[in-house]
Amino acid sequence: MNTDASTPSPDSSDTTAHARTHPTSGPVLDFHASAISGTEGALCDELRELGFSSVRLNRGGIPFRGEWRDGWRACLQSRIASRIQVLMRRFPATSPESLYKGVQAVDWTPYLTSTQTLSVGAVSRGSEALHHSGFVALKVKDAIVDQVRSRTGARPSVSGTDADVRVFVYVVGDKASVYLDLSGESLHKRGYRLGVGDAPLRETLAAALLRLSAWDRRTPLVDPMCGSGTIAIEAAMWALNKAPGLDRERFGFERWANFGAKQRAVLSTLKGELRAAITGQTPRIVAADRDEKVLDAAKANARQAGVRLAFRHQAVEDLQGTEGRHLVVTNPPYGVRMDVAPDFYRGVAAAFCRLHGWRVCLLAGTTEYARHMSPTPVRRDVLRNGDLDCEFLSYEIA
Ligand SMILES: C[S@@+](CC[C@H](N)C(=O)[O-])C[C@H]1O[C@@H](n2cnc3c(N)ncnc32)[C@H](O)[C@@H]1O
Repeated sequence: MNTDASTPSPDSSDTTAHARTHPTSGPVLDFHASAISGTEGALCDELRELGFSSVRLNRGGIPFRGEWRDGWRACLQSRIASRIQVLMRRFPATSPESLYKGVQAVDWTPYLTSTQTLSVGAVSRGSEALHHSGFVALKVKDAIVDQVRSRTGARPSVSGTDADVRVFVYVVGDKASVYLDLSGESLHKRGYRLGVGDAPLRETLAAALLRLSAWDRRTPLVDPMCGSGTIAIEAAMWALNKAPGLDRERFGFERWANFGAKQRAVLSTLKGELRAAITGQTPRIVAADRDEKVLDAAKANARQAGVRLAFRHQAVEDLQGTEGRHLVVTNPPYGVRMDVAPDFYRGVAAAFCRLHGWRVCLLAGTTEYARHMSPTPVRRDVLRNGDLDCEFLSYEIA
């Protein structure tokens, strides 16, 4: 079973990709952008701001529509999405046979040949005959592999870790939705993080926190417990309008059988347009940590990402709020993956409460920070950080 995939909501009984045609050019496809739990609203705002069509807020992920090029653009431009998938077919599936037939109704040969590898992930909810997700995945894999063998004479292999073609199937009640994944490796893997400290934040979560913090991309920003620098680097890339996927070696769709010279040229033009949109301006962004070694990793990561940050070797308790309005966005220790002293939370809260006129936003995996902060949060977002339930707390310090 694949846990990286959230469940798209089925809203029609039998849909096949390519069924509708775009008024000006290629087919209109139904895409699904998945996100870390609790960040769907931020992803929805982001996709709308990026100009995607038919974007809807949906728990578990955000649907949107467009042509193939829009799916590629989402992989390149979304800072918050974990994966981008395209709906290949949605159909009634109440038995293993109807599931197999429904999957075989899609022509998989444009994507998968016998020399490539395939992986299938499945999630099943509320189906009597297809309740075992492992069995669903196996049946879908058989349907695809059998089709390729019958058309080409040879079977593609299955790869659990690094497949060329990744398929996800969601069985909800008596319907199955089959998606092809465009992303390849999860989109949080931007390619700039060379080194990490303890408990690094996913890049996609850091980007979601920045959006939830209501940052205007001009106010000076500080992460006083920056670790490997993920929040500060994501902030700089956002302020520069640098698409986060530009430094990725490749996406999943580039490994499909039909990705040839013409597609490479379109992708190259798209990347050129995104490079031309980089503004070259960031406000002051400070990344600080009391651990000098982790700060060295943050410096190397920032260099690799091509962004300029101000680094400080400093304890958060020494942070001074004397420089006009700033925004703090940080991911402090919770005492789960990193040990903390008993009076640590009180000390950090006291330091934040001295930052008069600043906005302070922190990802808390413990109630200890909220307990010691004197103001009430102006906003609370409930999020998942790995396997931990967390609150993202925003304070205006009077
Ligand atoms: C959860 S980690 C941050 C991870 C970071 N967001 C990343 O993506 O790598 C917390 C960081 O707080 C730092 N830290 C702990 N106590 C501190 C203190 N009193 N002052 C400054 N930094 C501190 C640790 O060194 C660690 O790097």
